[in-house]
Amino acid sequence: MKILVINGPNLNMLGIREPDIYGRQDYAALTAFVRDVCDKLGVECECFQSNHEGAIVDAIQAAYGAVDGIVINPAAYTHTSVAILDALKAVAIPAVEVHLSDVSKREDFRHISYAGMACEATFAGYGFDGYRLAIEHLVKHHRQ
Ligand code: DQA
Repeated sequence: MKILVINGPNLNMLGIREPDIYGRQDYAALTAFVRDVCDKLGVECECFQSNHEGAIVDAIQAAYGAVDGIVINPAAYTHTSVAILDALKAVAIPAVEVHLSDVSKREDFRHISYAGMACEATFAGYGFDGYRLAIEHLVKHHRQ
């Protein structure tokens, strides 16, 4: 089984950006965490991060026929991007949404998730552990 883990804008600034909200660990620590989870579950994984909406759409399209599941934290594009929603719907790869913070308890504009409309589940507010929960969800429901 192969999983693509997509992180959106400003998540490359983890550890620096608003540490009280997003924690003190950096993006390299997040990818190491994800790889460790995948190794333990015997899952192949690819991590992708971009600050650009179109690049995220391209990565989702390129995943068609190549991966069995997508874990996506679209970051700010969560709340704005119909293009990412449409890309997820186009490829129809099982997808799970993750947010480090609990977006439901933050500003109103963070309460809408377009990408989430194409996802089977959402894990928000669990920090890095949300990615583990998302990967475990995909393994449980989609490993052949
Ligand atoms: C985020 C929440 C978003 O509202 C925000 O724009 C982010 C990160 C999270 O992981 O908590 O960049 O997706």
